[in-house]
Amino acid sequence: MQTGLKGKIAVVTGAAQGIGRAIAEALAQSGALVTISDIQDEKGRATAAELGGNVVFHPCDVSDPEQVRGLFDSVVARHGRLDIAVNNAGINTSRPEDRVTVDRYSEEIWHRIMNVDLHGTFYCCKAEAAQMVKQQSGAIVNIASIAGVVPLRLQVGFVAAKAGVIRMTEAMACELGPMGIRVNCVSPGSTLVEGTRQLFYNNRETAERLVSFIPQRRPGETHEIAGAVLFLVSDAGSYMNGHNLVVDGGWTCGFSRDF
Ligand SMILES: NC(=O)c1ccc[n+]([C@@H]2O[C@H](COP(=O)([O-])OP(=O)(O)OC[C@H]3O[C@@H](n4cnc5c(N)ncnc54)[C@H](O)[C@@H]3O)[C@@H](O)[C@H]2O)c1
Repeated sequence: MQTGLKGKIAVVTGAAQGIGRAIAEALAQSGALVTISDIQDEKGRATAAELGGNVVFHPCDVSDPEQVRGLFDSVVARHGRLDIAVNNAGINTSRPEDRVTVDRYSEEIWHRIMNVDLHGTFYCCKAEAAQMVKQQSGAIVNIASIAGVVPLRLQVGFVAAKAGVIRMTEAMACELGPMGIRVNCVSPGSTLVEGTRQLFYNNRETAERLVSFIPQRRPGETHEIAGAVLFLVSDAGSYMNGHNLVVDGGWTCGFSRDF
């Protein structure tokens, strides 16, 4: 794929590990100069060092608008521009006792998830758009989830936050398209990362049950999510705007069980 990404200035949030790390790696391999950010300072620095000379680390908690402004100010001070931004940082519940019906769902958890997944994405988009409007160019990708497309039970905060990210993406695509800026979403299905390994895939019975709902009968790999992001920000995706690209092995396209 001709990406046209050589020398482009990119930022990926929540990229110390998991999907964000794979996105940063794919962008750097395509020749982009990538700033990764995360709340995990040590791991973020180590990841940047492992990904090589095109990647640097800047600590940032996306739920703090001041830190978000600081991140993008420093990127623009260093490079003079911002071409690509991938808003990937996100959290969800993982303990079984937190996965409960709405009547018992914790308000504290609701706010914590909203602050990172929805508000954090908004703070980042706002700072990115401020620079991209000046340039009249840029590509933003927000990482949502299939939970924002087809609600999952017992995760009402995550579902609401990710649905908000998808709608917010569409709204920004309408606003910023005339200024040469494209805004899209990628919604991963169940993807192999440290967290999902511990939750589902280290236990054979749980893993088999989960993949039985996925037509491709396996979880996604982080590089497969990164591939979708790469397409959206590259020359190949130059007419993609306001799209939510679902990468889920077919999970949300229909029932994959027989009745
Ligand atoms: N793995 C999946 O199955 C899956 C499915 C659907 C959507 N997603 C989405 O993909 C994105 C990446 O998730 P992942 O699976 O790689 O999880 P992960 O937990 O491995 O990675 C998330 C990263 O975000 C960082 N982070 C958390 N809070 C932050 C904050 N306030 N500011 C900055 N960084 C913060 C974490 O330190 C971590 O490095 C998330 O938005 C998640 O909701 C993942």
